[in-house]
Amino acid sequence: MSPKTTIYEKIRQAVEAIGSRSKVTPEIGVILGSGLGEVAQACENSVTIPYTDIPHFHGTSVEGHSGFMVLGTFKGVPSVFLQGRFHYYEGYPMEDVVFPTRTVCGLGVQTLVLTNAAGGVNTRYRPADLMIIEDHLNLMGDNPLKGPNLAQLGPRFPDLSEAYSKTCIEIIQDTAKSLDIAVHQGVYAGLLGPTYETPAEVRMLRTLGADAVGMSTVPEAIAANHLGVRVAGISCITNVAAGLSSQKLTHQEVIDNSRLAASKLTRLLEAAIPRMVHRPNA
Ligand code: HPA
Repeated sequence: MSPKTTIYEKIRQAVEAIGSRSKVTPEIGVILGSGLGEVAQACENSVTIPYTDIPHFHGTSVEGHSGFMVLGTFKGVPSVFLQGRFHYYEGYPMEDVVFPTRTVCGLGVQTLVLTNAAGGVNTRYRPADLMIIEDHLNLMGDNPLKGPNLAQLGPRFPDLSEAYSKTCIEIIQDTAKSLDIAVHQGVYAGLLGPTYETPAEVRMLRTLGADAVGMSTVPEAIAANHLGVRVAGISCITNVAAGLSSQKLTHQEVIDNSRLAASKLTRLLEAAIPRMVHRPNA
């Protein structure tokens, strides 16, 4: 019987397969959340690889998540975009949820920008607002680093005191200001889903210090930090969280408002990403 392929080997296999399709060595990676896939259209000289062509990637099963990797030049910066992610609520093990993150990090990115659609827990937030993630609450009941530590990837007990890079937060804040794009800055609570929250849960989240709530991003931020990759996060507020409106929440509302915010997010990233590149010897 052949020995079990380790995660490290699987990442190498995925990186190799991607390298045979594109010669881009990305400096920045961007994971695009529900309804935000169009941001990657601003990528030039791009190569698009379906997830089904990448070893150990699953296809995506959620509407609004397309399932493509796009490599190219984004405002002069070699970049990789993931259109679509795997969620824990889809039933995948955490190892699979963070596999694309680890692969993107394995391609050599220095900074990973995580984007998502989220509900506004903060009562000042409105649909189509943007929130820079300053920190997160892991309320998923699991952690992608559970189990034997993969020493080739990172330490057993990673520090998360700056899970979202302060430098990136400053760059995004400053860029938003210069473009006259209003942005909030706050705490993202990651829950398992797939149900949206009850009004009581939203009150609890507010008490815990959350400003936005969603069902992704937290495992990816943890896996990237484990690998020593700098993380930035931006939530696109697609709805006010449960109990803050008399309307029922639907996935369609989330997708529609996310698409509304996508052009604003594209403008912000186009200006912010070149400023995030760190070339020590340049
Ligand atoms: N709750 C959880 N996840 C979400 C929401 C929400 O209100 N909106 C978009 N993703």
